[in-house]
Amino acid sequence: MNLNSPKSLLTVPTGSLQISELLPTYVDADDEPIYFSLIIPTYKERDNIYHIVKILTQLLDEFIPDKYELIVVDDDSPDRTWEVAQSLTGEYPQLQVMRRQQERGLSSAVIRGWQAARGQVLGVIDGDLQHPPEVLTQLLRGIQEGADLAVASRHVEGGGVSSWSVVRRFLSRGAQVLGLVILPSVLGRVTDPMSGYFMVRRSAIAGATLNPVGYKILLEVIGRGTIGGITEVGYVFCERKEGESKVTWKQYVEYIHHLVRLRLSTGRLGRVRRKINFPIDRFLRFGLVGLSGVFVDMAILYLLSDPATLGWPLTRSKIIAGEIAILNNFLWNDAWTFADVSMRQQEWHQRLKRFLKFNVICLAGLVLNVLVLNLVFNFIIPNRYIANLIAIAVATIWNFWVNLKLSWRVTDVK
Ligand code: GDD
Ligand code: MN
Repeated sequence: MNLNSPKSLLTVPTGSLQISELLPTYVDADDEPIYFSLIIPTYKERDNIYHIVKILTQLLDEFIPDKYELIVVDDDSPDRTWEVAQSLTGEYPQLQVMRRQQERGLSSAVIRGWQAARGQVLGVIDGDLQHPPEVLTQLLRGIQEGADLAVASRHVEGGGVSSWSVVRRFLSRGAQVLGLVILPSVLGRVTDPMSGYFMVRRSAIAGATLNPVGYKILLEVIGRGTIGGITEVGYVFCERKEGESKVTWKQYVEYIHHLVRLRLSTGRLGRVRRKINFPIDRFLRFGLVGLSGVFVDMAILYLLSDPATLGWPLTRSKIIAGEIAILNNFLWNDAWTFADVSMRQQEWHQRLKRFLKFNVICLAGLVLNVLVLNLVFNFIIPNRYIANLIAIAVATIWNFWVNLKLSWRVTDVK
């Protein structure tokens, strides 16, 4: 191959975010197996990409010549980072570039890169030179000495941050403490669980399906992989010279969501959850929508039946209020709770069918509600409010479960 002509872009892997075992055919042209694949996720790093590729190449050419590859995964940056990177592939034959146009986000970028990677060891480094490249060789040595995971850490000997404000330090540490509380089994294993600079043995995460929520892919690796030994190497998080950080408040929210999700799906709780196979996220959304329905019902009831407003008879007002609340709940559930399902069935007659089913099921739910209330009140707990709470809970679960199975047929969606 002519060394000076740029390579074509890598195809973006699709489907689930699972890392496969190394396939035996994945060796380079000289049949030399690749040892190390390093992903450089980028978004608007046009001014950094050349420097980082150059430095990494110099370093790795010395340390493991011809046994590595660099993969830039760019999310279709408006500054055309991918194009700049691609233009370097002629001069840097170990470099490959992926341009993602359908998906977005740091974590999934890293996973897609790993899916395209051929190495036995999979790594990641920021593309903005805030992660000092020299640390790479120490990380690699850690793996060669037997660790499954080698993490560059700001919180061990030799580590730190260059000139962060008190607020940023506080937020960073606060996030870590919160994580320790929610998910000690994962965050307790490393001193810097927020690090985006690390490498892991492919065999330690092969078969695991990683979840793309949030910025912190290391949490996924530790939480879902089978990680034995871990080494940490200190590093100082440098200041950015070019471009800007993509972190906003949204990342903090995502981070908490991520922790809760990992907590629910791993460990003992996760095993129980998998056994009973209950879609908890969906149920929570369904519950929130139900709550919104209560407010709609109340407001309409007020507008129609209050003497200060229309003053209609109570029963008639309640029927109308109840039906409008059902409509409200249906629209929210269709657009949010079961969005993935309804997206595939958007024709108006399909929607109408769902709405009618939803109505019938909710009506049956109301009957069940009254039944349970009477049963519990008369035979078990003679307190009408506790009995009512139990009745509402039973009816909500009924409504959710039957709607899940009948109105929004999740069962026939892969
Ligand atoms: N492909 C892709 N898609 N890359 C992204 C995206 C995205 O949506 N968002 C950010 N990146 C790239 C950036 O271009 C950069 O190379 C790297 O990911 C880190 O993003 P920054 O925005 O610079 O993050 P930071 O400086 O706050 O770094 C913090 O997060 C890093 C990633 O987890 C620190 O905690 C680092 O230690 C950590 O590595
Ligand atoms: Mn950065």
